[in-house]
Amino acid sequence: MTASFPYKTVLITGASAGIGAALAERFFPICEAVILTGRRESNLQAICAGHLNAHYRVNDATDLASIPAFAEDILSSFPKLDCIILNAGIQRGLNFTKPESIDLGKVDSELKTNYVSVVHMLKYFLPHLMKQPSAAVAGVSSTLAMVPIPRCPNYCATKAALHHLLMMLRFQLKGTTVKVIEIFPPGVKTELHLAINQPDLVNGDQIGIPLDEFMDVAWTGLMEGEQEIPVGQAIDNYETVERARHKQLAKVFGGDVPLGYN
Ligand SMILES: NC(=O)c1ccc[n+]([C@@H]2O[C@H](COP(=O)([O-])OP(=O)(O)OC[C@H]3O[C@@H](n4cnc5c(N)ncnc54)[C@H](OP(=O)(O)O)[C@@H]3O)[C@@H](O)[C@H]2O)c1
Ligand SMILES: *[C@@H]1O[C@H](CO)[C@@H](O)[C@H](O)[C@H]1NC(C)=O
Repeated sequence: MTASFPYKTVLITGASAGIGAALAERFFPICEAVILTGRRESNLQAICAGHLNAHYRVNDATDLASIPAFAEDILSSFPKLDCIILNAGIQRGLNFTKPESIDLGKVDSELKTNYVSVVHMLKYFLPHLMKQPSAAVAGVSSTLAMVPIPRCPNYCATKAALHHLLMMLRFQLKGTTVKVIEIFPPGVKTELHLAINQPDLVNGDQIGIPLDEFMDVAWTGLMEGEQEIPVGQAIDNYETVERARHKQLAKVFGGDVPLGYN
């Protein structure tokens, strides 16, 4: 582990596929323990197979009531936990020109998975992380947290909410040992856009850059200790929207905001 990323016991939510699984693969060789979560046990088993430091817990992020017991289990099993990566997420279309088509159950589970569960996780994991000599919380938002698209307004809103939360979490925790990291993926080829998840999306399997290409940049940012890591097309949104936001934040807060990126 590099000096800029000294964390050795890492929990990754939504690690049964896509970005979470790819992060786990990169952490296995350099961590003491990597704990993966998700709903699909067979996937988690397959990803962990052959790695002595790999562990998993089947957990549904939308089951908010399960989070306190989940946290207790993780913290008693892994008392050296020093990094949590809040990555679990889903994307659903939402079209207000056809209000009758709106499935509120889907809207609700998107909110819970992408945002509300993160707040709950923070409540139950921060007391432990704040006692560690050095710890990190990382969130996986999106380029759509900065500039939304019309197809999935609720998804964009959950990511914008997560982004605001992480920014202010960083601000509030600046006097503690906990570092706050945010990764902004562009479109990436994972299961997110596949017909199994979004049957209404045409050619969803062709959306995004290859996962490895995304991971190379995200991993470099993590290992170099960056706090805000925009990748690919997210960099343009970051350079325009976020730089202006940082400037305005510094103005409003009197230059007192710890910014993520140089
Ligand atoms: N791919 C992109 O283009 C893109 C772009 C920007 C941001 N992102 C963000 O990146 C993160 C990872 O997405 P991905 O692209 O890797 O998608 P993915 O391949 O579909 O993986 C999503 C992961 O989240 C887990 N998950 C979903 N609902 C869950 C729940 N209720 N409880 C627990 N785990 C749950 C899934 O596991 P189970 O199904 O086994 O539960 C899976 O491991 C998400 O937050 C996504 O919004 C992705
Ligand atoms: C919403 O549905 C209408 C009617 O089918 C369609 O014309 C429009 O393109 C859709 N909007 C989005 C953003 O998908």
